[in-house]
Amino acid sequence: MAGGTDLAIAVSGEGDGPAAMVGRMRARLVVLVSGAGTNLQALIDACADRSYGATVVAVGADRPGIEGLARAERAGVPTFVTRVADHPARAAWDRALAETVAAFDPDLVVSAGFMKLVGPAFLDRFEGRFINTHPALLPAFAGMHGVQDALDYGVKVTGCTVFMVDAGTDTGPVIAQAAVPVRDDDDVATLHERVKVAERALLVDTVGAMARGGWSVQGRKVKVGR
Ligand code: GRF
Repeated sequence: MAGGTDLAIAVSGEGDGPAAMVGRMRARLVVLVSGAGTNLQALIDACADRSYGATVVAVGADRPGIEGLARAERAGVPTFVTRVADHPARAAWDRALAETVAAFDPDLVVSAGFMKLVGPAFLDRFEGRFINTHPALLPAFAGMHGVQDALDYGVKVTGCTVFMVDAGTDTGPVIAQAAVPVRDDDDVATLHERVKVAERALLVDTVGAMARGGWSVQGRKVKVGR
């Protein structure tokens, strides 16, 4: 699966944040999942077109037996599972996850429904190239229950956010967002499904744009493309 990656990534530290330009034929993606993996599937499907500019070189999970891993296996993408329970402490799990991901030499690490917060070892290693997707318009409704919280609050518009991961919970710089209407008869399942349709499209568009055009992070401002 990995291939067409014959040039090196160049990362320079300008201003108060890193700037990254993927100088490979295709950017190498490692995707982290914990569940159904429909966002992963959208990325795998997009990567089938060489002009997309990226390739999924590995899929990692914090638990075995999930559909996200099965999707990777069906696509012929290498997988790995790094379980917290297999490590003596959370910090050891964090270091092991960082080492395992680093071995695949990713340009971009994508958390796509990965339900674990990583720690300093992982964040330091992948600073400025670790992104996540959240099913709400951050900074509104951060945390595990973004869809439920938006519904409970009574907002008429919610959405999804792709952002750079930092040490907080869903607090990193925003890369891209899309709005989704809330209907009067929505429940969590119907609203989440509508959000996920937008989320998959946003993630695919954003990762592709980053892979093809590079990106820079200056404080809280993320610029994609030149
Ligand atoms: C997405 O809505 C993601 O934002 C949230 O969990 C969902 C994962 O969906 N954290 P999937 O596993 O990609 O289908």
